[in-house]
Amino acid sequence: MRQPSDRPSTASGRAVQLDSFGGPEVLDVREIPVPQAGPGQVRVRVAAAGLNPMDWIMTADADTAARFGLSLPVGFGTDYAGVVDQVGAGVTGFAPGDRVFGGALSRAVADFVVVDAAGGVAANEACHTPDGVDDRTAATLAIAGRTASAALAVIDPGPDDTVLIGGAAGGVGVFAVQLARIAGARVIGTGSATSSDFLRDLGAEPVAYGDGLADRVRALAPDGVTAAIDLHGTDTVHTARELGVPDARICAIAAQVDGVSTANGANAAVGALDEIARLIAAGHLRVPVAASFPVEQIRRAAELQAGRHVHGKVVIDL
Ligand SMILES: NC(=O)c1ccc[n+]([C@@H]2O[C@H](COP(=O)([O-])OP(=O)(O)OC[C@H]3O[C@@H](n4cnc5c(N)ncnc54)[C@H](OP(=O)(O)O)[C@@H]3O)[C@@H](O)[C@H]2O)c1
Repeated sequence: MRQPSDRPSTASGRAVQLDSFGGPEVLDVREIPVPQAGPGQVRVRVAAAGLNPMDWIMTADADTAARFGLSLPVGFGTDYAGVVDQVGAGVTGFAPGDRVFGGALSRAVADFVVVDAAGGVAANEACHTPDGVDDRTAATLAIAGRTASAALAVIDPGPDDTVLIGGAAGGVGVFAVQLARIAGARVIGTGSATSSDFLRDLGAEPVAYGDGLADRVRALAPDGVTAAIDLHGTDTVHTARELGVPDARICAIAAQVDGVSTANGANAAVGALDEIARLIAAGHLRVPVAASFPVEQIRRAAELQAGRHVHGKVVIDL
């Protein structure tokens, strides 16, 4: 991360932009005029931005981009953390110098973002970053933290539960595993062989995804599984059904299955994000950062994230 004295003047700043929809190869770093905070808005000098699959899914083609209200030229990335450096008219609760984090839809990988002070939604918001939460960590929370919280709310785990989490080592998985453990549940998490130690460190018992998953889970948990979250597709949903888990205690986030709830980060409880930040500040939850890259290496970072075998989160330093 650059020190404040190294930062560009407020006339222009770096931003990742796309002139055409596509994959990592269309991501470029540009100098663009710095946005100004209007009434009710704050401008944030970004220190770090966290990547999510949603970033490249939204900007991969024109139809998907249009569904999110995006048009060319478009920025990249949604999760950010930094410091408020300009406050618009009528804003209360934020002042220059405040550390903040949150979401800025498809414009977060930039030196500056402008968001609504009273946004409260992952696409356009600022939350105070508690002491004890560093910027790289804060930059991973808005999408994955909210989504894990929404999924946990569906299955509502407790100390009597054994929860199967599919895709447990990914960006959402690291939150879901730890939140379920904090709720007192036993957690079995699916991953490849490369995820085993990582999952154990998070507090989950690893099991390999793929053919025969139900038998492997039965061997690990002969008394049964009581709830499940599928963070990858539908395999974990079907395995959970095979193991006798009722649909009401199964949740998916990346695919739809008739009869099973699909959790969406946008529907997380008010305060879910603040609660996760508080857990991190208190040392009860941690966010493993798989890799961090300077913004100039955005293409490498996006390629790594899009490979779908990241353990934890990928972060861009600004
Ligand atoms: N509904 C919502 O609001 C919402 C919000 C966020 C994300 N999502 C979606 O949820 C999904 C997960 O997001 P994420 O950020 O966690 O993604 P991610 O970080 O890219 O997930 C990577 C993880 O997926 C695992 N994985 C790869 N192939 C797998 C398989 N066949 N079965 C099970 N796990 C597999 C990998 O484990 P190994 O390396 O061990 O293979 C890796 O740890 C994405 O599709 C994303 O678009 C939805």
